Amino acid sequence: MPKSSLIRVRNLRFRYPDGTQALDGVAFDLLPGECVAVLGPNGSGKTTFLMHLNGLLSGEGEISICGIPVQKNTLPEIRQKIGFVFQNSDDQLFMPTVLDDVAFGPLNLGMAPEQASDRARRALEQVGMQHAQGKAPYHLSAGQKKRVAIAGVLAMEPAILVLDEPTTFLDPPGRRALLELLKTLPQAKLLVTHDVGFAMDLADRAVFFDQGNITATGTVEHVAEKCGWR
Ligand SMILES: Nc1ncnc2c1ncn2[C@@H]1O[C@H](COP(=O)(O)OP(=O)(O)O)[C@@H](O)[C@H]1O
Ligand SMILES: [Mg+2]
Repeated sequence: MPKSSLIRVRNLRFRYPDGTQALDGVAFDLLPGECVAVLGPNGSGKTTFLMHLNGLLSGEGEISICGIPVQKNTLPEIRQKIGFVFQNSDDQLFMPTVLDDVAFGPLNLGMAPEQASDRARRALEQVGMQHAQGKAPYHLSAGQKKRVAIAGVLAMEPAILVLDEPTTFLDPPGRRALLELLKTLPQAKLLVTHDVGFAMDLADRAVFFDQGNITATGTVEHVAEKCGWR
């Protein structure tokens, strides 16, 4: 039996109201344990693709997450299975303290406050930020904010992590620390990045987006080479 896909997308098409065909028949699978890098030029449809995975946009075609079709009535369940780490942590962190921020998701799921705090503390330990639980998120460095944002997602115990350009605001030590952290996390990962070196160190394979479709797939080296993407 082949492993069943955590993300399964078939024939996904999406056109923005202004007529832009942003996705044009995308097929994609993410298997358990995999880390897949999503490469491709600006405007090729990467973000539009991600936004379909948790139902922020909805086009034609089929998408399922952990075997559950993405549709209006399944969105609460879908959003617990697939955790998004935004490009800019400031879009993700909004509570007065780090602990409140990380506990926000579990509380929102209806968990008791004590239990939500426990989950949050465990998630902060996983990312090495337990010492900062009483701090205000806006006092943290970019690398620390990224870790706290990841903790907020981990506190939901998702099966899949989606990371949109996670290295954008990080300096070289922050980038290296993030790489080491992500290697320790067991979740399957989808990593959108322009950082080919980062993708090579972390991802098992890559897909290349061009004009709304996946035009190459294979090892990160192969895809970067074939698409002149360095
Ligand atoms: N809100 C929008 N309205 C109209 N067109 C959009 C919108 N957002 C993105 N697009 C267009 O859709 C295409 C794919 O964009 P996007 O998914 O943001 O690409 P990427 O993330 O790869 O840079 C581009 O042509 C872009 O200009
Ligand atoms: Mg984008």
